[in-house]
Amino acid sequence: MKQTIFSGIQATGIPQLGNFLGAIKHWERLSADYNCFYCVVDLHSITVRQDPAKLRQASREMLAWLIALGLDPAKCTLYLQSQVPAHAELSWILNCFTYMGELSRMTQFKSKSAKHEENINVGLFSYPVLQTADIVLFQANLVPIGDDQRQHLELARDVAGRFNAVYGDVFAIPDAYVPPVGARIMSLQAPDKKMSKSDENVNNCVFLSDSPDVVIKKFKRAVTDSLGVVKASPGQPGVTNLLTIYSSVTGKTIAACEAEFEGMGYGHFKTAVGEAVVSMFRPYQEKHAQLMADVPYLDKIIAEGAAKAAAAAAPTLAKVKEAVGFVV
Ligand code: TRP
Repeated sequence: MKQTIFSGIQATGIPQLGNFLGAIKHWERLSADYNCFYCVVDLHSITVRQDPAKLRQASREMLAWLIALGLDPAKCTLYLQSQVPAHAELSWILNCFTYMGELSRMTQFKSKSAKHEENINVGLFSYPVLQTADIVLFQANLVPIGDDQRQHLELARDVAGRFNAVYGDVFAIPDAYVPPVGARIMSLQAPDKKMSKSDENVNNCVFLSDSPDVVIKKFKRAVTDSLGVVKASPGQPGVTNLLTIYSSVTGKTIAACEAEFEGMGYGHFKTAVGEAVVSMFRPYQEKHAQLMADVPYLDKIIAEGAAKAAAAAAPTLAKVKEAVGFVV
């Protein structure tokens, strides 16, 4: 029996180079060996105020990006969270097994409430409970996540364990999945920070939707370091980040990349990295445009994904309802 993997991606925003090299690329590889569920988490998105038309568009766009970037709906389950009611149902039940104190300690809740002082809603508070429901609904064994989501996964393990302690083995207890070669892509302007699509400075981040000109411009502006040599080292975070990107994109080792640029200036190096990214993006952008040009077809894929996810979720939700004492 294959193990199960679940991961979620926010519905808003366009994926960026860091999401792709650090996460989505691994998701594709995992589809071959695991039973994978990849979910666009639009229920989570409304914990901060959204424009309805934009959210609807962004959710379709994100799903189309996942397909364009190589996830095959025939090999994994790809769907929108709001189309599978079991998420919301289980989330309510798990709310009753999660303590206020636990959720108050979540660092993401603290930072998001500081950022959205005018709208600290209950959904924002119980966001990690919905995330727990996402994961345990499919009996996921492994969850590929970045460091920023570790605390949420810990909570998921605690809540699932607490439920099991009362009712017997209802849920699998999930572990974090750490990719064997995790490329951590940093900001182009501040290479001590992770590349992030929510960064105020757009020059920090390369979006999958960026045109070739924009990509090249962003790489030309990327900060380098003062040594003047193309070598990866802790003292040269800017150059190291660009080498990591070039190595991930081309599949060459860091050493081979260093050798390729030996004796060359940073200008040449940065343009070469930009061009490599442009060539990598091109087929993905074409595929994405194709999918977005045929919304009925895309919506058919979306509906099929929801049906697959709903069918997979049903047995667990039934077990839970039985366990807590609902008439089923
Ligand atoms: N909270 C995650 C993020 O912001 C997204 C997410 C929602 C998720 N549900 C999940 C990730 C379940 C992993 C598993 O990145």
